[in-house]
Amino acid sequence: MSQKEKKASTRTEEEKRQHEEERLVERLEKIRHKIMVMSGKGGVGKSTVAVNLAAILAKDGHYVGLLDADIHGPNVPKMFGVDWRPLRGGDDGIQPVEILPNLKLISMAFLLPNPDSPVVWRGPIKHTAIRQFLGDVKWGDLDFLIIDLPPGTGDEPLSVAHLIKGVDGSIIVTTPQDVALLDSRKTVNFSRMLKVPVIGIVENMSGLRCPKCGHLIPLFKMGGGEKASKDLKVPFLGRIPIDPEVVQKSDSGTPYVVSYPDSEATKAFENIAKRCKEHVESHGGGEKG
Ligand SMILES: Nc1ncnc2c1ncn2[C@@H]1O[C@H](COP(=O)(O)OP(=O)(O)OP(=O)(O)O)[C@@H](O)[C@H]1O
Ligand SMILES: [Mg+2]
Repeated sequence: MSQKEKKASTRTEEEKRQHEEERLVERLEKIRHKIMVMSGKGGVGKSTVAVNLAAILAKDGHYVGLLDADIHGPNVPKMFGVDWRPLRGGDDGIQPVEILPNLKLISMAFLLPNPDSPVVWRGPIKHTAIRQFLGDVKWGDLDFLIIDLPPGTGDEPLSVAHLIKGVDGSIIVTTPQDVALLDSRKTVNFSRMLKVPVIGIVENMSGLRCPKCGHLIPLFKMGGGEKASKDLKVPFLGRIPIDPEVVQKSDSGTPYVVSYPDSEATKAFENIAKRCKEHVESHGGGEKG
């Protein structure tokens, strides 16, 4: 390659990067509120909270995007009853999958050759994928983008916070027992390090209501999330009880809150959605869409 050709190709690379940057900024400007769902420990119910929260907000008439940022374990599509959908798109971007009225989803699962394919990627490639999920996906005007993250303080939350910059806040999901709480304290501090305000802590799997006598059995203890929120001086968003139907519904691909609109757990999800909305709306702008 001649010197002149080299210069021209560097310039086009540079122009490409600049174009991508501008597109990312443009896409993000159209999204009013961005919320990260995090936890220190795996399996505490982040994806369940993200899915049901998104379903409630969409049902309330908001335009909602759900970004499954769990690159290695993308199971949000399954919770909506889809393993895989072909992604459509052109030069102007990728079309997210409309999963419910007003609710669009993007997930690594849609890019895998089959649902059992592992993703063996290191940080920089994951960063590129998340960048594309934010900048190349045609989210359009959204009121809320809910970002479901893998557990811990690793690459994915770092990438999201770095790329979005103005994330409205994080919802930290925990279970009530001491070991989970230790991790959730770390997550609160991590969120603060990322300069992402903590919207609050959700205590999931908080007691099991006996179907016979109605007594609440503290299977994994109770009240720990509330105590952590007091200790760490962050809001407590609420407790979600254990309900075997949560598992059933997420396995069969319908959000729990859609199937059981009057249950105790749905009331808890709704209350959490209301408190999140109040938090983000009182900290910035009105509605879009
Ligand atoms: N309140 C609840 N009652 C009963 N089951 C629940 C409840 N919340 C979550 N579950 C179940 O617990 C399991 C783990 O939930 P989920 O996948 O949402 O956790 P996660 O924190 O996203 O996990 P990971 O860290 O692997 O991403 C699922 O089978 C889900 O259906
Ligand atoms: Mg998950």
